[in-house]
Amino acid sequence: MRTIQLGSTRVGSNDRCHPDPQPASPTRWTSALAAIVLLLGSAADAFGATPYVVRLDALDLSLMRQGWGRPQTNRSMRLQPLSIAGKTFEYGVGTHAHSALWLDLAGGGRRFQAQVGVDDAAGGTASIQFRITGDGKVLFQTEILKAGSPAQAVDIDLTNVHTLLLEVLDGGNGVEFDHGNWAEARFLMAAEQAPRPIRRPGLDEPRIVLTPKPAPAPRINGPLVYGARPGNPFLYRIPTQGERPITFSATGLPDTLALDTASGIIRGTTPKRGEYAVTLRARNAKGSDARSFRIVSGDRLALTPPMGWNHWYTHYDRVTETLMRQAADVMVQSGMADVGYQYVNIDDCWMNAPKHSDPMRVGPGRDASGNLLPNRHFPDLKGLTDYIHSKGLKAGTYTSPGPLTCAGFTGAWQFEAQDARQFAAWGFDFLKYDWCSYGDIAKSSTDEERSKLIKPYALMGRLLREQPRDIVFNLCQYGMGNVWEWGAEVGGHCWRTAGDLGFELDRIFEVALRNAEHRAWSRPGEWNDPDYIQIGYIGAAHEMGQPVPCPLSASEQYAFMALWSLSAAPLFFSGDMGNLDAFTLGVLCNPEVIAIDQDPLGQGGQVRELSPETFLMVKDLADGTKAVGLFNRSYFPSKITATWEQLSLHGRQPVRDVWRQKDLGSHRHSFEATVPARGGVLVKIGKAAKMAR
Ligand code: GLA
Repeated sequence: MRTIQLGSTRVGSNDRCHPDPQPASPTRWTSALAAIVLLLGSAADAFGATPYVVRLDALDLSLMRQGWGRPQTNRSMRLQPLSIAGKTFEYGVGTHAHSALWLDLAGGGRRFQAQVGVDDAAGGTASIQFRITGDGKVLFQTEILKAGSPAQAVDIDLTNVHTLLLEVLDGGNGVEFDHGNWAEARFLMAAEQAPRPIRRPGLDEPRIVLTPKPAPAPRINGPLVYGARPGNPFLYRIPTQGERPITFSATGLPDTLALDTASGIIRGTTPKRGEYAVTLRARNAKGSDARSFRIVSGDRLALTPPMGWNHWYTHYDRVTETLMRQAADVMVQSGMADVGYQYVNIDDCWMNAPKHSDPMRVGPGRDASGNLLPNRHFPDLKGLTDYIHSKGLKAGTYTSPGPLTCAGFTGAWQFEAQDARQFAAWGFDFLKYDWCSYGDIAKSSTDEERSKLIKPYALMGRLLREQPRDIVFNLCQYGMGNVWEWGAEVGGHCWRTAGDLGFELDRIFEVALRNAEHRAWSRPGEWNDPDYIQIGYIGAAHEMGQPVPCPLSASEQYAFMALWSLSAAPLFFSGDMGNLDAFTLGVLCNPEVIAIDQDPLGQGGQVRELSPETFLMVKDLADGTKAVGLFNRSYFPSKITATWEQLSLHGRQPVRDVWRQKDLGSHRHSFEATVPARGGVLVKIGKAAKMAR
């Protein structure tokens, strides 16, 4: 038997602790393919010919994707010898769920053999599943394996297989501690050739723009209902597509508010408690449009999911005031504001840090009177919010209840009231409150577990409520203590239901499915938040690199937006505002898709699993129709049928393709579509009751 030795890959230690594992950045490490050394092996095998042996650890693993850290050759994720249930293995690959490696075998494979299991150094809650798929067919799959489960032997036939996928799945409980080993993993090849790691199929699929170009005549978009608190400043830019100049008018507008007829921006003071039925109108040389807009003056904000942009997944700790101003400019120029994007939100890293590689971000956290200090990249925060407001947009900021934020910048601990006042004085309209270093404070408290989690959010919720501004409160604590059960009680308007989506964008379907489990808690003013929309160009964390195209196929990007909209998720784009192409804008700015997200009923989509790889997500809309997403998680196109029985519909029903904004005729019993690999088809089914637009 011959062993083809392909050298090794350079690996680095990356064992940092964070609530949310950050994945490997394939661009950060290079493969070091060394010379091929052929070692003449022993006897011929069952094939009657001498197979060539190629070890998995000898391949270039730079294209291997995984949920945290980087693949480790001949050692575990903890940089120890590979070990499963007390047995150590000399060679193999240590990886972390969700892990995927695509290989082109060119039909030259014979067998794949390995011993697989949870690495002994992984830690308590590890639970993973190994799966091997050949040309779309599952060839091998383990049960869910836990720490201490004995190694499972793999020995599968690869004859005629072209594309092989090796995966370590998360076992259904998230990816924390999910260290899996492909121990003694090797390919028997028919000829002197090695399996070739390849990019995930589908990534090169054409990026077709499905969203039709906006018509020249005006079309008013945006929510049909809008909450604000009496006596507070009111600001609303009527999201409207169509050729400018457009002249705006409104009937029924309370007299504490004034509409600028040229810009379509409504400003003033929120009127006294009550509901105000307003009709908004827009006219240009090509036509006109009208839309009803109900202002609800009372205690509740964010009656539809907040929409906007957040800097995190593009600029990380490189954010500056200039970049925030540019984002506001682009939000208007690109047409995003015309379909409802409104908030321009700074995330972490705008304050000072005790230490940071950028000296402009290092300095005292507060002045002598305890006032929070922005770092030198943010010379004029009030000027920034004024600028954002001048465009009719809103401004958001970020801090942590702990002494430091997640990235190590000054947090609000023991200065909560002063900071809440400061945020209001600076003119912010949104606060993301990120748990992070509060963990240490909570640990030392004697409170019962759940109250430890609730306490800091209840405090800030109350403080924000006391400010003379409407400030939307975004809870970011990764879903701990079933936050959806108490988030609204503490004044939250939306809450992250899980850890960071990070770069594990392969998980969008899983993340959306888990988020949907909490749909009972989705209602106007109270939203489940599965994290930001990362499409287009996104940044590389902790590097000075320029944003790069997101690692998602065109179909996945459409599915991402459709899943989030069906889930009534806050729609925060977090890609690069400086690099928006027609495709990205098409995905972000389809008013019919956004209307599903912004539907006034506020229902979170209900999931109906059809097979392990396909499901429907169904959302009842206020106009009596249903939005239905037919989703396919597999890597191959799949025919999916939504029957009227599944949807509780009867008789002939009109079906509309939402992305293409095209009617598909009426259907009697079901709707069937061929759904692209890792994609979705989004339709609206049913006759809409006549509703004021
Ligand atoms: C946490 C949050 C992210 C982001 C970073 C900032 O990881 O979940 O959304 O705000 O912190 O450091």
